[in-house]
Amino acid sequence: MSDQHDHSDHHNRGGLFAFMFSMVFVFAFFFYLVAIHKGVDLDEKVVDPRAPVAEGAKLAFNVDQIQEPWVVSEEMIAHGQKVYASNCALCHGAEGKGDGSAGQGLNPKPRNLIEGSWTQGAGLIARFKVLQNGIAGTSMASFSHLKSGDRWAMVHFIESITQNKGKDDPAAIAEFAKTAK
Ligand code: HEC
Repeated sequence: MSDQHDHSDHHNRGGLFAFMFSMVFVFAFFFYLVAIHKGVDLDEKVVDPRAPVAEGAKLAFNVDQIQEPWVVSEEMIAHGQKVYASNCALCHGAEGKGDGSAGQGLNPKPRNLIEGSWTQGAGLIARFKVLQNGIAGTSMASFSHLKSGDRWAMVHFIESITQNKGKDDPAAIAEFAKTAK
């Protein structure tokens, strides 16, 4: 008899633990809902899928999808700055002052793109040609291996920072761009 008594006592204790455990859980969950969970924000902004998403658009910028890369835009300038940083800053300097570390021993020295004392002419067309062909007899090499969209982007970036801007007619630029690859 005493064996059986012990046995049922054991069972009851297990039930008590289970009960206490579930009560603790219920209180913890209740506390979470009341004190920690932020609740549902009824003022939550509904994103209009047609609205331009500025940040997302920047992240998703793909120069290959730009139909007319010779037309300047904020995105093209920003993209050009990135391509410039990885291909040109070494010689022309991060800010285009012609003071890049690899350029100092060169003769002639890399052009200061801000001053823009161009020998090949000012403006987008002349600069695109420089990137196509390089400048013979100098360390300014051809960058025709870069995508033409990337080169147009750099052309826009340089035009945005130089003090010696071009006066190309947009129609002439579009005409040139048809033949420029
Ligand atoms: C190895 C060093 C070097 C690199 C890298 C380099 N350049 Fe140059 N760049 C030069 C030198 C040197 C000159 C000056 C040549 C001269 O005086 O004729 C020059 C000249 C220029 C000019 C002046 C053209 C003109 O009409 O006077 C432009 C624009 C230019 N570079 C753009 C770029 C761009 C954009 C890149 C990156 C895609 C680049 N360069 C990468 C060395 C470099």
